[in-house]
Amino acid sequence: MTGKVWLVGAGPGDPDLLTVRAARLVANADVVVHDALVGDGVLALVNSRADVIDVGKRPGRGVPQELTNELLIALASQDHQVVRLKGGDPFVFGRGGEEAAALLDAGVPFEVVPGITSAVAAPAAAGVPVTHRGVSAAVTVVTGHRRSGEPDVDWQSLAKVGGTIVILMGVTERGAIAAALTAGGLPADTPVAAIRSATTVNELTLRCRLDELAGADIASPAVIVIGAVAAFDLRSGHLMEVSSTGRSR
Ligand SMILES: C[S@@+](CC[C@H](N)C(=O)[O-])C[C@H]1O[C@@H](n2cnc3c(N)ncnc32)[C@H](O)[C@@H]1O
Repeated sequence: MTGKVWLVGAGPGDPDLLTVRAARLVANADVVVHDALVGDGVLALVNSRADVIDVGKRPGRGVPQELTNELLIALASQDHQVVRLKGGDPFVFGRGGEEAAALLDAGVPFEVVPGITSAVAAPAAAGVPVTHRGVSAAVTVVTGHRRSGEPDVDWQSLAKVGGTIVILMGVTERGAIAAALTAGGLPADTPVAAIRSATTVNELTLRCRLDELAGADIASPAVIVIGAVAAFDLRSGHLMEVSSTGRSR
């Protein structure tokens, strides 16, 4: 078999945040199989002779994971150079591990190309450092998406860990998450920043307190940052005060 699959992280959206290796692979692939969160700017770098296949999962539709695995195996078996392009990093809530395992099982050569995860890129876009000396010595990246058959995140214990909590896929469950963190001991006035569509033209940051998160007007895709650093906005050169009503920009 001369075909091969590259599991490539596309970063948070801005094509300038692709790695050099990712940009080179995208420009040379003969097939690109991509997710919903891969931005148009990144897809514009795909060479015009390549086949581009969208297997993105969106509410109410999407290609089942097993079919995506089979598609990658079939394309590589036909000797294609396949770039499997995923938002952020392929191994951070991107099911890259499942695809790598399927390729391994099938004997298909593959390589992983890490990408900049939204877990750090989205906070950075809003001027929020996920760790900061003297303020936050730990960062926990967690999914807010509940999936049957998978263990639930122990939010109450997480509230006691300290440091920064970064939640991906947490918009729908934000009320329940805030309640569980509060029950675990996190103060009601803990700062929160929610960054939607970071590094794209639709980027929007909303800041509030933990007790305002349930009612906050947040749309997906968003990264929710909870902890003292969420009050920072280092883009403007100072630490921000969080208003009692929250605010968006
Ligand atoms: C299936 S996960 C994929 C995460 C991805 N592998 C990563 O490393 O960023 C999708 C979630 O990532 C977050 N996300 C991805 N890109 C984002 C962006 N540009 N802005 C805000 N959140 C983003 C959102 O929480 C979204 O619901």
